Formats: sequence, C-alpha cells, structure tokens
Amino acid sequence: MTRIPGAAPHAPVMLAECLAHLAVKPQAWYLDGTFGAGGHTRALLEAGGNVLALDRDPSVTRFLPEDALASGRLRFVEGNFDALDRHAAAAGVGPLAGVLLDLGVSSMQLDEAERGFSFRHPGPLDMRMGPTGLCAADLVNSASQEELASVIFRYGEERYSRRIARRIVEARAKAPITTTDELAEIIARAYPPGPRRDHPARRTFQALRVAVNDELGALERALAAAERALAPGGRLVVLTYHSLEDRIVKRAFKSSALLTPLTKKPLTASPEEVAANPRARAAKLRAAERVPNGAAATDAGSGANAADDAARAGRFTRGALAPPHATPDSTLITLWEDR
Ligand SMILES: C[S@@+](CC[C@H](N)C(=O)[O-])C[C@H]1O[C@@H](n2cnc3c(N)ncnc32)[C@H](O)[C@@H]1O
Repeated sequence: MTRIPGAAPHAPVMLAECLAHLAVKPQAWYLDGTFGAGGHTRALLEAGGNVLALDRDPSVTRFLPEDALASGRLRFVEGNFDALDRHAAAAGVGPLAGVLLDLGVSSMQLDEAERGFSFRHPGPLDMRMGPTGLCAADLVNSASQEELASVIFRYGEERYSRRIARRIVEARAKAPITTTDELAEIIARAYPPGPRRDHPARRTFQALRVAVNDELGALERALAAAERALAPGGRLVVLTYHSLEDRIVKRAFKSSALLTPLTKKPLTASPEEVAANPRARAAKLRAAERVPNGAAATDAGSGANAADDAARAGRFTRGALAPPHATPDSTLITLWEDR
C-alpha cells in the first residue's frame, strides 16, 4: 500500500492535553486505540513511549511511520478497541502505562465520498469503519419505521426522528435508498421549513453511523478492557465528540472501582485550537488513573478543578467517592442486529 510520509490530513485534537494526562514515561508501552492518521501516536513516540496502535480501518496503515515500525517501538493491529486488552496481551506489551481513545471518525473517513459517512459528499450509503458487517443502506432499507425512529432519536438526539423515519419508509417503498445524497434529500424534505443552524441530515447521519459501527457498545467494552489492561498508576485518556459518548465515559469513570477520575469536568480545546481546527470544537477530554493493586478508586470530587490545573502542569490530585454507574441501553442495536 502507498505510504504518505510526513503530512497527515487529520490534525490530532488536544495533543498537549492528551500527553500531559498520559504523563508519558520513556520506553513504557502505550496503546493508541484509534490510530487514524497517527498524530497522537507520533507524539507519544516523540515523547519516548512505545506504542501499540489499533484501528478497525485497514486503510490507515498508509500513515504508519516506517522507522518506528522497524525499530520495534511501534506495532500496529487492525482490530476493534473493544478488545484492547486481548490485543495488548497477544502483542505481549502489557500491562500498559497508558491508553488513549480519540473517538469517532477521522477527517479522511469523512472526506472520502466512497466511505459514505458524509451528507456533503455523494457516495454509497456505507458508513462502516471497517471492511465487514452490515452497512447503513442495510439498516435504512430493512429496519422497521419504529426502529429507525428510535435509532435516529437516541443516537442522533434528533427531534424530528419520527417524521424522518416515516419519509424514509415511504421513499424506500418505491426503490431502495442506496446513496448519501438520496438520503440527505429525503431528510431535508422531512424537515419543517424555517431557519436552522446546521444541515438537517447531520443528526440522522450521526445516528446511523453510531448504530452501524456499534460505537457506544464498543466504547463501553473498551473502558472495561482498559481497566484490565492498565498497569497500576497507568493513565486512560478519552476524547469524545458528542454527549452520548461523554456520558458513558463520565459514568464509567465514576462507577469504576479501579479508576480514579483525574478530571471532574471534561477539558475542552482552547479557542486557538478551535480556530485552527474546527473539529476540536466538540471535543471533550476525560482522564483517569488506574489505582494501585489492592487500593480503592476515589472520585476527583471537589479537588477536580485543582486536578485539571495540576494535570496541565503535569501533577494530579484525588477527591471523594462516586455513585454507581448505570449502563446505557444498547437494546436497539441488538434488536436490529438480531433481525
Ligand atoms: C478521530 S480518528 C483518530 C485520529 C487520530 N487520533 C489521529 O491523530 O490521527 C478515529 C479513528 O478511530 C478508528 N476507530 C473508531 N472506532 C474504533 C473502534 N471501535 N476500534 C478501533 N478503531 C476505531 C476510526 O477508524 C478512525 O480511524
């Protein structure tokens, strides 16, 4: 495969904050569960760490730095981060000093029309991050109207989910919906007229992508896997891009007996970074530390703001105990996959 040396088309988000919270130690092993164009991985390598990089999208291998692969400081596995503990064990690199998850899709995936992620680019209605599994066209053309409305409401938080689902079902009765532009047009027609802040298809496309890739289920499993894979004192850093993801991370950190949150409130990108990289606008960073074996985890509590400040300066503090975590409902995805 052609390798593109140097320039990466996806700017790594909140890079300095990620590195500060991972507190990179030379020669220790870190797992980057979302390699993408490799911006975070390259920074971890430059800081002296070794990296096991994962991505479920095999096309990212063109961004792997050859020199780091050759030296053995970087390894790559095509796979889902929901089994990151098993990938680390199979590669013989655990327990890990840190795990980084930078969720969602990359700029490359969004910009490549044939991947079908974007309502802005005409392409096949695919949306799969990896090469296998059911695609968005399968969901759009086979789920019931109620299932579609639920997916669009729950994973897109779209207030017009029922109208959109009804229009989709009406349109597919004439002919299957197979392209992004057809679907975007159907959604736009389902929307009531009037001023709006963003494209009517944005939330529905997000919902379909989340369902097709089981993104929330994978995140829940990955957080549990990270707990198992981290060494005592190891760090977990997660960058989320919408409220559904952030809620899962927040609850998992609070309820875990093995993770101490280092951020009471999520960190966000600086105005300078958002101006240079609009994708950073929605980013929220949460970090936690794996407790030493035999110790109980504590919440960041009232000390978290101080912890955030300290984290930026490379130091961390801890606070009071957290309430239990309620697992979010993945029933819809299960229902659809069982069809
Ligand atoms: C936002 S991009 C990461 C960008 C990367 N941090 C960088 O600096 O270039 C997210 C990447 O994670 C991958 N991804 C998303 N969910 C995944 C999962 N469950 N398992 C493995 N990779 C996943 C996507 O294929 C995509 O390449």
